[in-house]
Amino acid sequence: MALEKKVGELLNTQVNKEFYSAYLYLTFADYYDMRGLKGFANWYVIQAQEEVAHARIIRRYLLDNDWPVKMLAIDQPDKTFENDLEPLEAALEHERYVTASINECYAAAHEAHDFRTMQLLDWFVKEQGEEEANASEMISNMELFGSDPRGLYSLDREYLARSFTAPTDMDM
Ligand code: FEO
Repeated sequence: MALEKKVGELLNTQVNKEFYSAYLYLTFADYYDMRGLKGFANWYVIQAQEEVAHARIIRRYLLDNDWPVKMLAIDQPDKTFENDLEPLEAALEHERYVTASINECYAAAHEAHDFRTMQLLDWFVKEQGEEEANASEMISNMELFGSDPRGLYSLDREYLARSFTAPTDMDM
């Protein structure tokens, strides 16, 4: 089945957005690394790995459906942060943007009666729900405990424990 033009183009753009997300989250990791918060830095390095996995899943899907994938230029992240809360807020804002972008892909697939692509995107819709929930929780945790050095230390230890597991139910 050939992909409808709009669906293929939106998915190709989504590959780029996922790689940009990885770039962006590495800059968050850099901020926390420089602050000495290795756990928060670890969280965002792992997050970057997840974003690369997302990009690869969509790339694989495009190739499997004979769409000529274009590796578009990745924008330079331009955010600077004044405090430990700001990257967390920027992450939630970014994930909401990605959710809207996935929804746009879904709407195009729906309109084209492209049920195969809708099935691929079902996974991403669920994943976005989890990513937004994680981002919100990190903000709440920082607001509740981050102003106390022991609270911040304990959060940092918690985030240090995160490790990367590739999604086993998706082809890359
Ligand atoms: Fe690939 Fe964080 O969404």
